[in-house]
Amino acid sequence: MIAAIIAAAGSGERFGSTIPKALISLGDRTLIEHALASLSAVVDEIVITAPAGYEDAFRTIASDRATVVTGGATRSESVRIGLAAVSPEAEFVLVHDAARALASSDLARSVIAALRAGEVAVIPGLPQVDTVKVVDSDGYVTTTPDRTPLRRIQTPQGFAYDLLKRAHESKSDATDDAALVEQLGARVKVIEGEERAIKITTPSDLAAALQFLGNTHDFSTGVGVDAHAFADGRPLHLAGLFWPDETGVAGHSDGDVAAHAICDALFAASDLGDLGSNFGTSRPEYAGASGAQLLQETARLVHAAGYSISHVSVQIIGNRPKIGARRVEAIAALSTALGGADVALLATTTDGLGLTGEGKGIAAIASALITKN
Ligand code: CTP
Ligand code: MG
Repeated sequence: MIAAIIAAAGSGERFGSTIPKALISLGDRTLIEHALASLSAVVDEIVITAPAGYEDAFRTIASDRATVVTGGATRSESVRIGLAAVSPEAEFVLVHDAARALASSDLARSVIAALRAGEVAVIPGLPQVDTVKVVDSDGYVTTTPDRTPLRRIQTPQGFAYDLLKRAHESKSDATDDAALVEQLGARVKVIEGEERAIKITTPSDLAAALQFLGNTHDFSTGVGVDAHAFADGRPLHLAGLFWPDETGVAGHSDGDVAAHAICDALFAASDLGDLGSNFGTSRPEYAGASGAQLLQETARLVHAAGYSISHVSVQIIGNRPKIGARRVEAIAALSTALGGADVALLATTTDGLGLTGEGKGIAAIASALITKN
């Protein structure tokens, strides 16, 4: 059984917020929620140390994922209190700072793997890239240590349960738990840490951490184009409508260029391939599908990928049919097929130029704006 303690009882004095640091938001959730999510995936039991007076707020967040205890005056004391709440059957205990909110589940897994391989104390660390100086109380340099063997140490730190318990019996104070274990003379193994496990101490650290969340904007856009040649004797389907008395277009689908352009714009925005890769030979049930059916299925795929369709715009390029009289009807048809998305529909001719201007066919260009849920 593997347990974890998340130290979250600090006030975040250097951060300068009125609420405890662990309750500050980073992206779509608080620091403690990030830490909880990454550890819940790899350990069997979690104890959170909360600042006095905020226990209920932390319990609401933890739900049944963790036990919440009131922390102490120092980090070491908080961990000691947390350790007392860990099940005695625990074989290994990870100690993690809520302030290192973005440490990944994989980092915790690497720590555990080293423990399983026989280590008794495992801590992540990164090389020291800056030159380090030791200074006296007046700010004068006394020495310049060789930085080569130096490591910047992170959490989660993992320990054999009994060893961590003994280390904390001394009731001494240190900035990490490994320091207490070192005092017992135990071997502490440093494994490779993660840049994203930075400790959020000041607001500028929060900005740096945001970079690791990657794509911080919620919108994506896409463009799609389609064109078909007129073919005598075929019915015309365009923008989700049937157009009696108009010449249709060639092709094995119903040839709705407006619908197809919108599908491709949506696939582009959601990075889901294109019309061919989604409805080509691999999905024979879509051979001969109507434009509206393809729009419906495309919308379903986009929604399943975690997006809402915010807006779709399509422009039909050709001499005929004249769109104006049926514009509202066509917008309603397209929007319905897209589950109620906002749709704009325009039409233009091309001054006699090109395949559409020469009356040889019809084309459409579409754009889509989608929002990550
Ligand atoms: N911590 C704790 N109990 C304390 C002090 C700190 O559990 N008495 C936790 C913090 O919540 C944090 C981690 O230990 O997740 C590392 O501490 P630090 O980054 O220093 O956070 P704070 O102590 O909250 O910040 P500051 O020192 O600026 O007040
Ligand atoms: Mg502190």
